[in-house]
Amino acid sequence: MRSLILLKPWAVSRGLVGEILSRFERRGIKLAGLKLVHVNREKAEKLYLVHKDKEFYEGLITHITSSPVVAGVLDVPFDDPDGAVSLIRKIIGATDPAKAEVGTIRGDYGLRIDRNVIHASDSPKSAEYEIPIFFNGDELVNY
Ligand SMILES: Nc1ncnc2c1ncn2[C@@H]1O[C@H](COP(=O)(O)OP(=O)(O)O)[C@@H](O)[C@H]1O
Ligand SMILES: [Mg+2]
Repeated sequence: MRSLILLKPWAVSRGLVGEILSRFERRGIKLAGLKLVHVNREKAEKLYLVHKDKEFYEGLITHITSSPVVAGVLDVPFDDPDGAVSLIRKIIGATDPAKAEVGTIRGDYGLRIDRNVIHASDSPKSAEYEIPIFFNGDELVNY
């Protein structure tokens, strides 16, 4: 099961990329794709389409396009896609770092909800929608 993660601008500018990726690696979750990307407005709007009507939408778009992010595709070796997404969401923690458990990525590296250091797809359906925004099929590998 493949799912998208984005290490958001503050994860990159604060030098947390290696530490955050290692959280997944040490769980045995493989990377199927990885790149550094400065997200443009078009990609940001596509990614955050479901939040279009929220009051924090503009801030969300401004932040994700402000400086480079690391985009990755995680490959979780589970037969159950919902279980795979749940595990990734458990590792990243609650949306608001103030509520995220210590030991989760957001709980250890985040402080503000609008700067919560990482994005991860929230369902197999959103993974299927989000991965092609950042990766072509030939940029993903099986091993
Ligand atoms: N109330 C809020 N105020 C500011 N930013 C928010 C708020 N709620 C969510 N966000 C931002 O929007 C992103 C997308 O929201 P959502 O999809 O609900 O959370 P998640 O990233 O956990 O899936 C969050 O990661 C967070 O950075
Ligand atoms: Mg979400």
